[in-house]
Amino acid sequence: MQPADLPELKDYSPASLDSYFGGILALFEKEAAAAGTPDELEQLRIRWIGRKQGLLVGISEDVKKAPADQRREVGKRFNALKSAIEPRCDPEQAQARTPSAAESAAESIDITLPGTRRALGAEHPLIRTMNEIVTVFAAMGYSVGLGPEVETDYYNFESLNFPPGHPARDTQDTLVIAQQERKPLRDRLLMRTHTSPVQIHTMEQQPPPLRIVIPGKVHRNDAADATHSPIFHQVEGLCVDTNITFSDLKGTLDHAMKAFFGSSVKTRFFPSFFPFTEPSADVQISCIFCGGRGCRKCKQSGWIELLGCGMVDPAVFGLVARQQPAYDPKKISGFAFGMGVERIAMMKYGIGDISQLYSGDMRFLEQFR
Ligand code: PHE
Repeated sequence: MQPADLPELKDYSPASLDSYFGGILALFEKEAAAAGTPDELEQLRIRWIGRKQGLLVGISEDVKKAPADQRREVGKRFNALKSAIEPRCDPEQAQARTPSAAESAAESIDITLPGTRRALGAEHPLIRTMNEIVTVFAAMGYSVGLGPEVETDYYNFESLNFPPGHPARDTQDTLVIAQQERKPLRDRLLMRTHTSPVQIHTMEQQPPPLRIVIPGKVHRNDAADATHSPIFHQVEGLCVDTNITFSDLKGTLDHAMKAFFGSSVKTRFFPSFFPFTEPSADVQISCIFCGGRGCRKCKQSGWIELLGCGMVDPAVFGLVARQQPAYDPKKISGFAFGMGVERIAMMKYGIGDISQLYSGDMRFLEQFR
């Protein structure tokens, strides 16, 4: 008697024999594929070619019942089936068979071929630009400072002379951490809108003279478009000492722009406003695309606006002096500046859409290796 899942041999026509032996082999293949462990393989062996109960024994009975004129044909098919099944029940041969693809690959390894190279990573264009800016200032004796991205209202605004309700706060709306209503405003946490709060942290921690650049990520409630992103990067700078003047500011930034964009670049300073610098200025450089003649990139003006700066407002020193008396606004002075890294990277590399800097698209990034 045969188990129900084996096909039935109806007659000895070639078509019936084909489907009978084909069906048995398919069943075996299915079971063999599921037998992974040595134990399962042993079970498979007993079930199929066990000497007394093995399925092949039952099948061979069927074969013997074949009419004399068919016996040769049926016997041939049975032997083919048996030689397909037997080696696959033998642990050694079953193993030798399975990894054949990998094995044949191993046999054909040509050790004289070069190995598989792993592509090396590279600096992201944004980080590279940030490092290049920092390097220009490091060469002038600036050290590098970092500060937290989550700031208190005090460091992001108040200490920088944006009192509560000051209209300049509106230009730097940001995300605030939820459920802080019970805290006084100055202690409430928010995502910093600029790197300027690190100016204050640094001055509170060390007395003048001070020369520091601060690269970092900042957040603003700005709608994303081709040139804006609600999260972007700045490099801030601060220089404090005795007798620091606006000429020092101009000379430093003029040199930095020439070092970064090339010595033919010119700078010019326009009056501007920031609550924490007085006077304040916007710095423009002569257009690096047309050399100042006027083109689409500079809107025919010949100039491109690049950063904000100014002399540190004495009111800011006054607040810092509560913790570091050496920042007496009567004795020292200083300048500060801040620039957007994305804007500079986009100009330098001719990137038209800011979102490409955040896409992680290898087709974009591979151009900067
Ligand atoms: N923090 C200012 C901004 O984000 C830039 C700035 C920095 C201006 C330092 C003056 C001095 O707009």
